[in-house]
Amino acid sequence: MKSVRVVVVGAGVIGFSTAVCIAEALPFCSVTVLAETFSPNTTSDGAAGILFAAEFPDIPLERQKRWFKDSFDHLLAIAVSEQSPDAGVMLSSGWQIFKEIPAKKKPFWSEFVIGFRSMTDRELKRFPDHKFGQAFTTLKCECSSYLPWLEKRFRKAGGKVEQRKVNNLQELSNSFDIIVNCSGLGSKMLVGDTEVYSVRGQVLKVEAPWLQHFIRDGDGKTYIYPGTQSITIGGTRQEGDWRLQVDEGDTKGILERCSRLEPSLSKGKVISTWVGLRPSRKNPRVEREVVQLRSCRVPVVHNYGHGGWGVTLAWGTGLDALGLVRQCLHEMPLQAKL
Ligand SMILES: Cc1cc2nc3c(=O)[nH]c(=O)nc-3n(C[C@H](O)[C@H](O)[C@H](O)COP(=O)(O)OP(=O)(O)OC[C@H]3O[C@@H](n4cnc5c(N)ncnc54)[C@H](O)[C@@H]3O)c2cc1C
Ligand SMILES: *[C@@H]1O[C@H](CO)[C@@H](O)[C@H](O)[C@H]1NC(C)=O
Ligand SMILES: *[C@@H]1O[C@H](CO)[C@@H](O)[C@H](O)[C@H]1NC(C)=O
Repeated sequence: MKSVRVVVVGAGVIGFSTAVCIAEALPFCSVTVLAETFSPNTTSDGAAGILFAAEFPDIPLERQKRWFKDSFDHLLAIAVSEQSPDAGVMLSSGWQIFKEIPAKKKPFWSEFVIGFRSMTDRELKRFPDHKFGQAFTTLKCECSSYLPWLEKRFRKAGGKVEQRKVNNLQELSNSFDIIVNCSGLGSKMLVGDTEVYSVRGQVLKVEAPWLQHFIRDGDGKTYIYPGTQSITIGGTRQEGDWRLQVDEGDTKGILERCSRLEPSLSKGKVISTWVGLRPSRKNPRVEREVVQLRSCRVPVVHNYGHGGWGVTLAWGTGLDALGLVRQCLHEMPLQAKL
């Protein structure tokens, strides 16, 4: 019999990755994913899903490297398997280019992607506004396919799924022994982590099948990411902006900036426009605490606040969250484990 009841709040890429990690590693736990929105309606669904990351200021670099490497290795195995089309995970080669030479020429994750090197002058000639560039092969994980794929894998491991909004922890404490909090931006609205804020992002999907390589400006605002069905071009990074509707000014700006990087884009056909709010925080919160609720103490594992890098870090932080759930189990009174 499954004796420990775990609930994962959130059905984005963080929630489902974490839920799969727990359900597959701890068969004696019954795991439920509980969320208000599911694919195709989460933030994760619209993300370009390119594996890439910035450095968080207060998390040991070794830990960030592990998050990146664990995610990369997990998704690379999928990308080179027969599962790749179903899961929406593919290899993606291209360039990150800089108008000014960056202070750090090699990001911390350069050793985990494939074939990382500086671009040659010859390669840079295509980009007359840019002085420096990096060429490498990374992965692209499209959550509109990946989330349904993960959900299937989760159900196969015995996981259950329930759709509803959670208003407070109390309503979970009677039915579950451990709460895993993967609620993204919802963590601000629930009881209020004031450190969580929105960074609005608008992107367009374009049909331009002749483009095969990604191009990203190092400022993070302009990018072109070829995918399985179409090309995602962007973008915007508007801090504290909670508007979910499309902004025509942004659309125009995106088309202009991207066409400057890749002139042939003006021949492409815009298929759709999408806005998402990145669940941002100075540092993502991957830690556990024991919350005192009326008469009981409930172990909570937090895993939220991944900002613009949630797809990249989902598997790595999911494995960390699994480790934290294990620690909760060790500390639980014996009768709960029997
Ligand atoms: C334009 C854009 C481009 C991006 N590109 C990339 C990229 O290339 N690479 C990358 O790594 N990342 C990218 N990101 C970032 C990525 O989308 C996020 O980091 C990631 O989706 C966060 O996942 P999440 O599971 O935490 O949040 P979400 O996908 O938002 O999921 C949150 C879940 O929690 C649930 N929830 C919240 N509150 C409650 C509640 N009270 N009760 C019940 N359920 C609740 C929601 O219903 C939802 O199911 C991009 C983001 C945007 C906007
Ligand atoms: C996604 O949102 C649409 C529009 O609100 C809704 O009709 C659909 O049922 C939602 N899908 C899921 C899986 O919740
Ligand atoms: C998630 O964490 C936030 C911030 O601490 C908190 O407000 C919220 O209640 C938590 N939600 C769940 C379901 O644990």
